[in-house]
Amino acid sequence: MDWVLAAYGREVIREHVPRVTQRAEELALRFSVDVQAARTAALLHDIGGIFRRDEMLALCKALELPIEPEEERVPLLLHAKLSVVLAREWQGVHAPEVLQAIRYHTTLHGQATALDQVVFLADKLEWDQGGEPPYAQALRASLEEGLEA
Ligand SMILES: [Fe+2]
Ligand SMILES: [Fe+2]
Repeated sequence: MDWVLAAYGREVIREHVPRVTQRAEELALRFSVDVQAARTAALLHDIGGIFRRDEMLALCKALELPIEPEEERVPLLLHAKLSVVLAREWQGVHAPEVLQAIRYHTTLHGQATALDQVVFLADKLEWDQGGEPPYAQALRASLEEGLEA
């Protein structure tokens, strides 16, 4: 999806996605999670970011996607739902576990699977804010105790 991100001028995401994908593959291997599923979810997790944040809400409403109050307040959160739509309708990804990992990569959720956790953690360890995240060391230490930790 590198060319799509380039075409839309999403250089920050373009730089972030390969790092997340590599990290997701590493974590999947380490914690016995389906590496191909983790790779697919990571590659597509932010593809919804091709849309402008000020058009995300209207787009999700047009697509009749359920919208949480938090998403109404912070429409950027909706990029994950738009990533799911693009993964499914454009890239032909139909595996529910992969779409779920994409859907919840920003916030995780109460019944997270190991795949959800791998994609979420890869996204957080390889964040798109430049440099090493302030929580990276603590997170890596916690991972010694397992994904749940
Ligand atoms: Fe994201
Ligand atoms: Fe991301």
